[in-house]
Amino acid sequence: MRSAAIFAAVLGLPTALASSCPVEDSTIVAHAGTPVGKEEVHNNVTMYISQPDEERRRAKPDTAVLYLTDVFGLPLLENRLLADSFARAGYLTVAPDLFSGDPALGDINVPGFNTSAFLANHGPEVTDPIIASTISYLRDDLGIKKIATTGYCYGGRYAFRFIADGKGADVAYAAHPSLLGNDEILAIEGPAAIGAAENDGMMPPARRAEIESLLGQAKQPFQVSLYSGTNHGFGVRANISDPVQRFGKEGAFYQAVRWFDYFL
Ligand SMILES: *[C@@H]1O[C@H](CO)[C@@H](O)[C@H](O)[C@H]1NC(C)=O
Ligand SMILES: *[C@@H]1O[C@H](CO)[C@@H](O)[C@H](O)[C@H]1NC(C)=O
Ligand SMILES: *[C@@H]1O[C@H](CO)[C@@H](O)[C@H](O)[C@H]1NC(C)=O
Repeated sequence: MRSAAIFAAVLGLPTALASSCPVEDSTIVAHAGTPVGKEEVHNNVTMYISQPDEERRRAKPDTAVLYLTDVFGLPLLENRLLADSFARAGYLTVAPDLFSGDPALGDINVPGFNTSAFLANHGPEVTDPIIASTISYLRDDLGIKKIATTGYCYGGRYAFRFIADGKGADVAYAAHPSLLGNDEILAIEGPAAIGAAENDGMMPPARRAEIESLLGQAKQPFQVSLYSGTNHGFGVRANISDPVQRFGKEGAFYQAVRWFDYFL
């Protein structure tokens, strides 16, 4: 079986669709190549926007994926490619620039990069309005009725924040969320799923168990999946030369797509 057919089978798509993807790599999830989306500014927010092809768009005309990045933001190639992958899975996908042109450096360990200052400058009071503006672009300008949030590391917390009552999104997925607060979990009003790394200093096993317990108390459908051999960041920045990490990254992606296909 060709790999495109296998991915199509996993996603329940007709094989013909999978083989007509608008990128060189005809699988749904791309790890390399040139991003196919484009950057636009709406409501004073720069957004990376990736469109599904016409046929898939017709199948999900009023839904969108709101892609909330890690601290590396839109400049990181893997973020654009993963947003494109959600578009290939059928969803109009929009990733706002959460850092207003000022993302973390490519390598957070670069001497002089002050992570605590960066996070202090990008708290909810700064980031919530950017996401709210993006949601209003989707709903008011594009007529989108149902929004799934997918968030990675930094963005994972916000995927949860925006399925709280009245925040504007309906379903959430987060891979290795960082700084996710107990109150933010208890406040969710929609289905939420998590992809967790085996090695994650920001979500070690004890914290993972707490999060599972809080999800139970939130009384919404939830799923927590743990991927072996993975590190914090794997949903975006796995070493895909390592077959186990590659499985983890692709698994996290398909977990999100299945979650959205079913619950959105
Ligand atoms: C637009 O966003 C920038 C940050 O990127 C901000 O400094 C500016 O005040 C915003 N302008 C308006 C009109 O909201
Ligand atoms: C990093 O930023 C924090 C908060 O702004 C500040 O207190 C601290 O001194 C900074 N550290 C360095 C090494 O510059
Ligand atoms: C990525 O994985 C491959 C295969 O396991 C390994 O040879 C390589 O050293 C890894 N690269 C990094 C940067 O860890």
